[in-house]
Amino acid sequence: MTTPPDKTPDRIAGMFDAIAPRYDLLNHVLSAGIDRRWRARAIRSLRLTGRETLLDVCTGTADVALHACRGGASGPPAARAIGVDFAAAMLSVGRRKLRATGEDRRITLVRGDATRLPMRDGTVDVATVAFGVRNVERPELACGEVARVMRRGGRLAILEFGVPRVPGIGTLYLWYFKCLLPSVGRMVSGHTAAYSYLPASVGTFPSPDEFVRILEQAGFVHVRAHPLTFGIVYLYTAVKR
Ligand SMILES: C[S@@+](CC[C@H](N)C(=O)[O-])C[C@H]1O[C@@H](n2cnc3c(N)ncnc32)[C@H](O)[C@@H]1O
Repeated sequence: MTTPPDKTPDRIAGMFDAIAPRYDLLNHVLSAGIDRRWRARAIRSLRLTGRETLLDVCTGTADVALHACRGGASGPPAARAIGVDFAAAMLSVGRRKLRATGEDRRITLVRGDATRLPMRDGTVDVATVAFGVRNVERPELACGEVARVMRRGGRLAILEFGVPRVPGIGTLYLWYFKCLLPSVGRMVSGHTAAYSYLPASVGTFPSPDEFVRILEQAGFVHVRAHPLTFGIVYLYTAVKR
């Protein structure tokens, strides 16, 4: 069995702070731009009407919050968004992007931990977590917190990496993910551990069936796991009970 990587908050926040300046670039390069489609798909699943307050947990550089508040091809935008993350440097990059696009009026970025969200019960309409939950030491606590701050009937969309099961594709992808991606990540970010941590954190994250159960126990219903791009990524959709 693979040993789970160290996910203590200081280590995780420090790692994301270190790669923050190159994070967006690496995301788009290493996923060949498909990450934008995954995020758009997650936002579409929320079926926004233009009136919602959206919470984006583990917001990083605020890509999901920005996309959700700009609408466009994904449909009507959210009325406003709050992004929460504990890595200050990721939030700084995000704030620059918000200022550059004028979205700093509708999107607020707050430094905080996903397992202790700085907001009151039932105060947000919809929530997203993109590629964040696998980094949380106790994902069940973060899911419980997201449920606590959402209003009843609100929609949740979580994107997280998976392990593709399609023969051939699975082997090729694992080679890319475990060999090529850490080397390219190391070269571009200059950080030795961050991009080796990525495959290690994915390999030890609960399976889609297990994660569906975690969400149900946290207080969500209609929980579904949708494989995207051969199961490289899963979109989990759910409704607050
Ligand atoms: C891979 S990045 C994803 C960022 C963004 N959601 C995106 O789609 O690009 C993961 C983010 O989760 C944040 N994170 C991890 N664990 C966290 C926690 N317990 N509380 C708050 N933020 C956390 C990290 O600081 C990092 O910015």
